[in-house]
Amino acid sequence: MGYPYNLDFDFSALEGLQKFSINNLGDPFIESNYGVHSREFEVGVLQWFARLWEIDQDDYWGYITNCGTEGNLHGILVGRENLPDGILYASHETHYSVFKAARMYRMDSVKVKTLKSGEIDYDHFREVLVTNRARPAIVNVNCGTTVKGAVDDLDRVLQILRDCGYNEDRFYIHVDGALFGMMMPFIKKAPRVSFRKPIGSVSVSGHKFIGAPVPCGVVITRQKYVAALSNDVEYLNSRDATIMGSRNGHAPIYMWFTLTRKGYEGMRKDVERCLRNAHLLKSMLEQAGVTVMLNELSSTVVFERPKEEAFIRKWQLACEGDVAHVVVMPNIHIPKLEEFVQDLVASRARHFTRAALQVASEARAACSDDSDYEC
Ligand SMILES: Cc1ncc(COP(=O)(O)O)c(C=O)c1O
Repeated sequence: MGYPYNLDFDFSALEGLQKFSINNLGDPFIESNYGVHSREFEVGVLQWFARLWEIDQDDYWGYITNCGTEGNLHGILVGRENLPDGILYASHETHYSVFKAARMYRMDSVKVKTLKSGEIDYDHFREVLVTNRARPAIVNVNCGTTVKGAVDDLDRVLQILRDCGYNEDRFYIHVDGALFGMMMPFIKKAPRVSFRKPIGSVSVSGHKFIGAPVPCGVVITRQKYVAALSNDVEYLNSRDATIMGSRNGHAPIYMWFTLTRKGYEGMRKDVERCLRNAHLLKSMLEQAGVTVMLNELSSTVVFERPKEEAFIRKWQLACEGDVAHVVVMPNIHIPKLEEFVQDLVASRARHFTRAALQVASEARAACSDDSDYEC
């Protein structure tokens, strides 16, 4: 329940493909000499996302990554190659892969404070931009933070950049949409993740909301930006602009299979159900006396960390400090939520009973004899 993986899938129709070593090495749009590939499926998936994030076929470039982390590493590299002197800005609650990218690429980076919700602190962001005005800005915008599911307000970030005197050729925005990049376009009141706005790249994980038996993801950027990191490689007879060399050729087929089967409408229904069930879980936990937080656009239900380690392990909860979360995914239905809450209530009762008896046993140990204790 703690990790955002949609386990509701059935790829048995594709089992026969396991006997092939499918590898999409090189550029998805340029065929290499290796013949066992799934480039047509990869491009099909990319088109699906290009339409979702509103970028024309001739203007985008992208590929199927091994995971959301690779998408972040790529997006930030594209930013760095286009603005070599840029400073990376990302909020304190950003996924660790973003600051890892800064270390790998030896970029200067600034950790921006966060609000209680987990969103970037807009005032602090403005302050650090003003301080570093002489250098371009490469900004990671979170579309769903890992722990609290917080969504940074992209329009507000863009407005602050403009207010601080950063023209479009002096900033690059990478949107880390590991989980919600896929969900937000289907939520009416959510701000749009769209290349009609001056953003540079968006990445998502494929094994999260879509669901796949192997980790995978998608990154999309603008064609005009990717030239800065492309090299022709004679050995591949293709172009190198990806982070990895060999690339999983099964993953695009899994993703294509699900996206084609469900379509935009199927995805929208999944998103709606997850948000509804997340609200239901929040109410159930509140009724049970548990302190809960749920961001408006999120299906990540954050609550006080359960005390019993065995309970945390049983439900595979992700914990940070004194909070834990459940990410309500399409495979989590109401009976599972009921079972979870019942088990949590029982776990809390066991813990509090043990704690109360511990107090009594300490009191008993402190008394010189049983008659003192009885008094
Ligand atoms: C916000 C965010 N970004 C990036 C990632 C990394 O994704 P992956 O595990 O697919 O590498 C995660 C993973 O949970 C995440 O929550």
